[in-house]
Amino acid sequence: MSTKVGTVFSFQDFPNVSKFPFIINKKQKNGIFVRKGLFVSTKSDEGYLLGIIEEIILLNEYFSDGLTIKAYDENKNPNILKGLFPSDDFEFAIAIVKCLGIIEFNKQNPELMKKLRRMSYPATPGAPVYVVDESILTQFIGFDTEDGLDVGTVKVTNYKALINMDRLLNKHLAILSISGGGKSYLTSVLIEELLSRKNGTPAIVLIDVHGEYLYLKDVPQFKDKIQVYDTTYFQISTSNLSAWTFRKYQNQISHVQIRELSKYIQELIKDEEKNGKYSLSDLMDFIEEDPDTNKSTKQALIGWLNELDRLNLFGAMENPKLKNILNEGEMVILSLEKEISIRKKQIIVDYLCNRLFYLRRMDMVPPFFLIVEEAHQFCPEAALSKAISKSILETISREGRKFLACLCLISQRPKRLSTTALSQMNSKMILNIKNPYDLKHLMDSSEAITKKYADMISTLGVGEMLLMGNAVNYPIFIDVRERHFKSESEDISLAEVCQHWQEKLE
Ligand SMILES: Nc1ncnc2c1ncn2[C@@H]1O[C@H](COP(=O)(O)OP(=O)(O)O)[C@@H](O)[C@H]1O
Ligand SMILES: [Mg+2]
Repeated sequence: MSTKVGTVFSFQDFPNVSKFPFIINKKQKNGIFVRKGLFVSTKSDEGYLLGIIEEIILLNEYFSDGLTIKAYDENKNPNILKGLFPSDDFEFAIAIVKCLGIIEFNKQNPELMKKLRRMSYPATPGAPVYVVDESILTQFIGFDTEDGLDVGTVKVTNYKALINMDRLLNKHLAILSISGGGKSYLTSVLIEELLSRKNGTPAIVLIDVHGEYLYLKDVPQFKDKIQVYDTTYFQISTSNLSAWTFRKYQNQISHVQIRELSKYIQELIKDEEKNGKYSLSDLMDFIEEDPDTNKSTKQALIGWLNELDRLNLFGAMENPKLKNILNEGEMVILSLEKEISIRKKQIIVDYLCNRLFYLRRMDMVPPFFLIVEEAHQFCPEAALSKAISKSILETISREGRKFLACLCLISQRPKRLSTTALSQMNSKMILNIKNPYDLKHLMDSSEAITKKYADMISTLGVGEMLLMGNAVNYPIFIDVRERHFKSESEDISLAEVCQHWQEKLE
């Protein structure tokens, strides 16, 4: 049986078709506290009306008159006055409810929601108002009842928020907030859920810029499901690169030089001794030995390739071998923690994404969920900066869905993130964002984010998120649950590090 929380009443121009007010029962049973954001229902002439409390107004006739307040203030003993005038009894609270629609139930099974209809007639004054039951809210939002990803509870209730994995991951996802808003924390909650699933989970590939997720490898339950690759040993297979890719990595190479390079590559790949595999120094040797080319073109080309070779990235073989490391329900972490050069990081991400997307299109690796931390570094808005890896990330965001390659972009600066990519992120998990430019950029990239939502986003606390888009039928605020497994570094304070430093020296 649902809990009654109040009674619909007539107040100013309400109820109308889009809103209704109700007087909140003062004495709540079951400890329910009626608050903004609570989903409520009432029976209207059209049927089961579902709504959400948008505002709460407290009225007290007694304190609406200036003279009374003056008398109240000046009285030396307000308790005497309280005895004469029961001012507390004058207080009542009105909740203003935004109507979301009429729920039609299945005739055979009245517990099951069939569809949501638009309203065309107001709520009935005098009708009781109830808290919406968990089962109905779950169906309305589109959460799962068992198999979903448990990210926490629906705000203002204790109902579980179990996100349907298909709905979340068959289109792309963005996780956005200020720095320290809880993005990485939420991501590890998602990973915990994905790695604990019984079956049918995509391979997770995580580009871990700060090495924040390496602790997961130490969790006994996940140990066998996680492979960590440090980019110190990352190697690009040079023979996988076309002349144009070299230009992308070294944009000083001229068009004439590219044409020459292209010829060399075609010849070298035929070299039987090399068996189609060569390193960048093999390529340079090959060019050096060629007697035909114009000497200055040759020298310039070798110069640029030499500069690239100093990045220590281009070998004959790929490491790790990307074709072999993706497994259903498992995770690969690529840690960029030790890398300082942003160009090198972008080249690694570019190569990785290009290869993974190619292998996926060829159906040589399982469907994957590619998580990119600090995405604004790898896929920035053109007006702000350039990035080698931008084009492939935009391509995956536009076309990945067809091939079940799901992208998750994480960023603390949405404004710096490519609009093209951001507008393709169908689901969004938004934690606190304060910067007005970032909020405006978000509103521009998604019409679902109205001014009202933007205002609410700017007041979210740590661990509170707004989930919207493809994953749910209606935007919903969620209290993100705590991690089941802890990162050791999480609680280490500056003072502790300094103290251990002293001990180390002694
Ligand atoms: N859902 C949550 N529950 C409890 N603590 C949280 C939660 N989300 C974030 N935090 C706290 O906030 C800190 C910063 O979160 P983090 O995910 O590192 O932020 P971001 O990645 O957005 O910069 C975390 O170390 C953690 O202590
Ligand atoms: Mg983070």
